[in-house]
Amino acid sequence: MDFTNITLTSLKEGVALVTVNRPKKLNALNSLTISELSTVFVHLETQTDIRVVILTGAGDKAFVAGADISEFADFSQEQGQDLSQKGQDSLFNRIENFRKPVIAAVNGFALGGGLELAMACHFRIASDTAKMGLPEVSLGVIPGYGGTQRLPQLIGKGRALELIVTGSMIDAATASTYGLVNHVVAQEELLGTCLKKAHKILQNSPNAIGNAIHAVNAGYKEGKDGFSEEINQFGACFGTSEFEEGTQAFLNKRKPNFY
Ligand code: COA
Repeated sequence: MDFTNITLTSLKEGVALVTVNRPKKLNALNSLTISELSTVFVHLETQTDIRVVILTGAGDKAFVAGADISEFADFSQEQGQDLSQKGQDSLFNRIENFRKPVIAAVNGFALGGGLELAMACHFRIASDTAKMGLPEVSLGVIPGYGGTQRLPQLIGKGRALELIVTGSMIDAATASTYGLVNHVVAQEELLGTCLKKAHKILQNSPNAIGNAIHAVNAGYKEGKDGFSEEINQFGACFGTSEFEEGTQAFLNKRKPNFY
């Protein structure tokens, strides 16, 4: 697949690397980049040989420095609302609901829409050079790609509101203390660390992983009862060939092979 602002490569069997590739603009998300990211996730959804996705930014300075400010500076209220709605529907919610784990490799600035992109991923691993924040109020706007919801979910309401209303940036060590990122490693070890996590994931049942993501997400959705959804997703694992393989492998003291 050919893209202008992103690259799609295979890191190892089963693992796709999606890189936002506008380093001169610190990988800011313009509409083409959002659309290409959305297209690549739609594509990866159908690729049964891909089990894990790692999302990162090109260069060593930025993951993504936000939505492209130059694109929305003269937007009307309607256009602003549309920008947020389309971005959430086409990309950010798609990543959150993706049935294969998506790991954000946060390799530098993750600001505004960039941090929102990282937060839509299932978990985050950062380089020790990373800096994170939601500076939107300094521009007279608020986070529009899920940041007002996902940041409090991840770090709690008080810390989230402090970050949002001050527009401050935190470093990777603070982000780790807050639980915003799971691990902090040297820049040169970032992709290798993500790959090690991917390797662990690849040993497990893809169907069960997808059901687990669905059940966890249900607890954060309005009108959904996470516990009921867990019962449904738990039940749905039974009778599948992967459940049979996993349980038989355990009982026969061998490693399961889910592929
Ligand atoms: N939208 C559009 N362009 C952006 C951008 C964004 N969110 N973030 C960075 N860029 C562009 C800059 O305009 C600059 O382009 P130019 O070289 O054509 O002038 C280029 O990327 C490099 O950025 P620059 O500001 O020169 O780098 P820096 O090292 O001095 O500062 C940041 C880095 C991240 C602190 C700074 O770029 C910044 O504050 N970016 C905006 C962050 C933000 O508010 N994001 C939320 C948007 S909703």
